Amino acid sequence: MAEHPPYPVGLRLTGRRVVVLGGGQVAQRRLPALIKAGADIHLVSPEATPSVEAMADAGEITWHRRPYAEGDLADAWYALIATSDPDANTAASAEAEAHRVWCVRSDDADRATAWTPATGHSEGVTVAVLTTDARGRDPRHTAAVRDAVVEGLRDGTLVAPHFRTRTAGVALVGGGPGDPDLITVRGRRLLAEADVVIADRLGPRDLLAELPAHVEVIDAAKIPYGRFMAQEAINNALIEHAKQGKSVVRLKGGDPYVFGRGMEELHALAEAGIPCTVVPGISSSISVPGAAGIPVTHRGVAHEFTVVSGHVAPDDERSLVDWPSLAKLTGTLVILMGVDKIGRIAETLVAHGKSPDTPVALVQEGTTAAQRRVDATLATVGETVVAQDVKPPAVIVVGDVVALGPDGTTA
Ligand SMILES: C[S@@+](CC[C@H](N)C(=O)[O-])C[C@H]1O[C@@H](n2cnc3c(N)ncnc32)[C@H](O)[C@@H]1O
Repeated sequence: MAEHPPYPVGLRLTGRRVVVLGGGQVAQRRLPALIKAGADIHLVSPEATPSVEAMADAGEITWHRRPYAEGDLADAWYALIATSDPDANTAASAEAEAHRVWCVRSDDADRATAWTPATGHSEGVTVAVLTTDARGRDPRHTAAVRDAVVEGLRDGTLVAPHFRTRTAGVALVGGGPGDPDLITVRGRRLLAEADVVIADRLGPRDLLAELPAHVEVIDAAKIPYGRFMAQEAINNALIEHAKQGKSVVRLKGGDPYVFGRGMEELHALAEAGIPCTVVPGISSSISVPGAAGIPVTHRGVAHEFTVVSGHVAPDDERSLVDWPSLAKLTGTLVILMGVDKIGRIAETLVAHGKSPDTPVALVQEGTTAAQRRVDATLATVGETVVAQDVKPPAVIVVGDVVALGPDGTTA
């Protein structure tokens, strides 16, 4: 280890000759980044791994099928020495030194003139980490530092706002079913960059506590709406904050487009000329049953699943759900917003041919610490909901998948 730390630099290799000696695992790992950098890559090696060979076949590198020979590095700007022959590596490294070609050596980093940093990428930034500790290199530590930084930037636990590209506007973010780990990476990042967050009751509310003090958090349920409808009041709040030049996140439960009124908000924003991005989320319709051990499909049991809203009863004239047709399906029925009406929904399904013994599960507050599963059948679910005091939010699953045991047998 030299007593001075390495000097970090970004090489711009477009069209410049880079020589790689050896076509094994090291080359296989390093070549993609060199290709991405646009380098004119010459691989010198009698053999190569199938992946390296595929790069040559695709014309991404030029492969000279022979061992290293003196003179190979003469015109190179940069070299990667990684053959399995120590003598060849030493000779090539001496040639690189003589021609002042920066060179990385896979077998002896101390005798190399350049080191490859542990790199990762996040949103247009390359994170490159090098050991500078005079006690010696620690590649696993540098990789761990790289991972920590890249992961932190991706999941929003490290906040680095975009000053160049940051534009005012609204992001409709699907926050997932409630567990804060179940938001998407993009959603979490946008949340970390927000000036204003307008949040629903459902979704990952724990994440709100982590936001910096300057972020204005607005509870959508508490927006005063006077003579407006609640949704119009929310739309207006989104528009007003975005017009003040702020980054606004509309944090929703599950996915914005699954009974989430995402498109209504998108239309209102478009009408007001506000830029809007929509970030999908993990919908409770699939994840909440899953969290309670229920797959919505299973080979040989259910080849379809249907997600319906149960917020109005089957005989309500506002209902758009064709309950008689649903009763004829053999697959899984997933009902959201159906706790209050499940008794009448079950009666309707049975009246149109569904077996009263069909298993039903109600999963309340799925993926949160308060998750609770209550089982019933179509014949008993109306009473069970009352007797067990099941409360919204709950996802109701109807079908044979409910009875699947963890070992794949029916329970
Ligand atoms: C207005 S809908 C919104 C659905 C959401 N956009 C989604 O994709 O999950 C609200 C309903 O979703 C269901 N729901 C959402 N999160 C839930 C959770 N963590 N546990 C149980 N049910 C949930 C309940 O049926 C609730 O009444």
